[in-house]
Amino acid sequence: MKTVGVVGCGLMGSGIAQVSAQAGFTTWVREVDKPALDKGLGRIRKFLEDGVAKGKLTADVKDETLGRIKGTTELQDLATCDLVIEAVLENLDAKRQVFSTLDRIVPASTVLASNTSSLSITEIAATASRPERVLGLHFFNPVPLMKLVEVIRALPTSDAAFEQARGFVEKLGKTAVVAQDTPGFVVNRLLVPYLLDAARIYESGVASKEDIDNGMKLGCGYPMGPLTLLDFVGLDTTLSIANIMFEEFKLPQYAAPPLLKRMVLAGYLGRKSGRGFYDYSKS
Ligand code: 3HC
Repeated sequence: MKTVGVVGCGLMGSGIAQVSAQAGFTTWVREVDKPALDKGLGRIRKFLEDGVAKGKLTADVKDETLGRIKGTTELQDLATCDLVIEAVLENLDAKRQVFSTLDRIVPASTVLASNTSSLSITEIAATASRPERVLGLHFFNPVPLMKLVEVIRALPTSDAAFEQARGFVEKLGKTAVVAQDTPGFVVNRLLVPYLLDAARIYESGVASKEDIDNGMKLGCGYPMGPLTLLDFVGLDTTLSIANIMFEEFKLPQYAAPPLLKRMVLAGYLGRKSGRGFYDYSKS
């Protein structure tokens, strides 16, 4: 495996493209238009520059990494890739469209992965003429710092595709956790009920948001408290994952609390909108 493609250069796609290029792969990254592509590539450059400033990597490594990243707005440019990772909107139709196009333009040997956090890999794979080469590679935000990737086998995924994807994760220097294709896989299956419960106890007035966050940070050593993490992940993203999990399992722990729904309706999406449980408008 020498050449990797990433479809989508948003928060997750740019992080995936960065770690792929840092690991030595020629990496094509595709966005829908030039402004979105420039924004994503700018995010990668800034992360690498900050890394140099922090003494985490040399300026040479930064330049080599950037030199291996090839931005494009054409999916066709990913035709020579050995592995393509899709990281577009968390929307089944959008993902299926990407997979059906990729299926036509890449060689039969190319492995196709989705970075979905909650949609069914099996359902995404169903659009491909060779569903055996489709699987899930679920990265965590911020991708360059988080050491885990979940590797998801869909029902039709072949052993060969699965081993290639697992080998890629190892080359990134990350740890693979293998999971079956069920909503939330391993991490979100545990994380999402925890985040929903934090919103529930805040909503019911058990404690202030700061005390809920400090409770888990200082009492359990979590790097962020749950309400800060909700703001970081995005309230809309968490709500969408929770709804998919609730739809599948019909269990109360996956039912989103009314406060979370209302905040999303009000546009309080977390850091990305400048306001969630906390105010980020001045940061
Ligand atoms: N380049 C290289 N290294 C960098 C860097 C950069 N640009 N920026 C930061 N770092 C390094 C720092 O030097 C530091 O390294 P050290 O531990 O060796 O000193 C480390 O990264 C941490 O950075 P900071 O000290 O600047 O920041 P924090 O200590 O505040 O940590 C955080 C930031 C890593 C985001 C931490 O708060 C964290 O782990 N939060 C939880 C994140 C999380 O849970 N993510 C998963 C979300 S769920 C998800 O994504 C799944 C989806 O499906 C919902």
